[in-house]
Amino acid sequence: MKNLHLSIVLLFSLVLFASSLKGQESTEQWRPTFHFSPQKNWTNDPNGLIYFNGYYHLFFQHNPLGSQWGNMSWGHAKSKGLLHWEELPVAIPKDSAYIFSGCVVLDKDHVSGLGDPKKPLFIAIYTADFPNKGEEQHLAYSNDEGLTWVKYDKNPIINIRLKDFRDPNVFWHEPSKQYIMAVSKPKEFIIQFYGSQNLIQWDLLSEFGQQGDVEKIWECPSLIQVPVEGMVESKKWVLFVSSQGPYIDYVGMQYFVGDFDGKNFINENSASTKLYVDHGKDFYAAIPFSNVHSEKPIWLGWALNWAYAKDQPTYPWRGQMSSVRELSLDATPQGLRLKQAFMPKIDRLKPELKREKFKISGTSKLQNFKFSNKKSYLIELEVLISEATNWGISIQGVGVNSNEKIDIGFDEVNKQWFVDRKKSGKIIHKGFLVDDRAEFINGKSKKIRLMLDHSVLEVLAQDGLVAISSLRFPMANEEEFQLFSDGKETIIKQLTIWGL
Ligand code: FRU
Repeated sequence: MKNLHLSIVLLFSLVLFASSLKGQESTEQWRPTFHFSPQKNWTNDPNGLIYFNGYYHLFFQHNPLGSQWGNMSWGHAKSKGLLHWEELPVAIPKDSAYIFSGCVVLDKDHVSGLGDPKKPLFIAIYTADFPNKGEEQHLAYSNDEGLTWVKYDKNPIINIRLKDFRDPNVFWHEPSKQYIMAVSKPKEFIIQFYGSQNLIQWDLLSEFGQQGDVEKIWECPSLIQVPVEGMVESKKWVLFVSSQGPYIDYVGMQYFVGDFDGKNFINENSASTKLYVDHGKDFYAAIPFSNVHSEKPIWLGWALNWAYAKDQPTYPWRGQMSSVRELSLDATPQGLRLKQAFMPKIDRLKPELKREKFKISGTSKLQNFKFSNKKSYLIELEVLISEATNWGISIQGVGVNSNEKIDIGFDEVNKQWFVDRKKSGKIIHKGFLVDDRAEFINGKSKKIRLMLDHSVLEVLAQDGLVAISSLRFPMANEEEFQLFSDGKETIIKQLTIWGL
């Protein structure tokens, strides 16, 4: 009897063990190819984005030891052309403190006096988070382009004895000839600005906050100058903050447009104006690349949401970055609005398909085009006129998973862009059961661009004035591409598809 009992217990443990192993099956079919994801383990925010010596460096919040948030350290990857990322060894490991988010700047004049003055010097400024105690700003430096770092021996460089005080972002401000740091007091909805000549001693300049969306905490601020489209030499200061996004209970990003005089940031809109960066649920903590000398700034964000990050059903990694996007402002009837464009410019390559002026109604598959979910795509669709209730693009499962799909399109009745992922495969959270929607911007074309890279879908509509980033986890092994026009007809001006 005892033996039988023992064998049952053994068998049960074996089944448990086997099913736990099964939960660890690799999900490479969901791994994006040109969006960065770590080979294994957890990532959240991008950190220390910098361009140097032909490479874009991406440091990232990383748990080198596990697939959930913890042991926060800075991972490191670099890319030449932004389509392939090479992962490098962990750059800044945790010590008694977690290495939270921050930035990297090039100390080109060696004003800090740190490191070897004959070699290029990267300075990382980040938050040291002492679990359950407090947060302060620390500095580390690297003379080998970010591979190895020395933590400054007189850290902290800023400590205001506040439990929540984080995510410094630094840039050189030419008019006032100083480095400026934006750093957040998350629970107070305040961004502080500090100034420094040597990146080590920092003086408080001013505070900005308690405006816009103050539903959740404020994190990961950055202040940059952004050019206004079509107006030569015209630039505005834009303050970006990660906070609540357009959906209650989901984090997202907002921005404030205004001026900065080397001391104060002045919001040119009313304090109650809420401007969101992205209307999907999967774009957060974006910061700009430093040391990029192009006209328009570029940035990337974390393509995930804290509401369900721990449940991302991927293995052996969890978390990924958005694509790199170029930023500008555009004068719309509602005022200056953020515009984003995908980088690199894949549209300069030869497309796989280009069709002009044709009609669709109901759902239609494309002739002469074979969609493969083993590839990634950039798709552009522009509509001339539509009498439909909804039109757009569908990526649809084939075979046993033929009821699975994700719809990306325009709702002509409510004049809204949408991504409907209710049936897109594995539904990991209730956030997948509500469409991600954004208002149409009057006076601008009905053009939609989407990047589909396995589980990562990013939509930029109306020349990038509307952004919707939404993850999906399809179960189908095979998928196909369709256009749809519900109710009545839609006249397509052009459809172009680039395969990657
Ligand atoms: C934002 C954030 C930051 C913090 C980091 C910790 O997603 O909460 O404020 O520095 O993540 O991993």
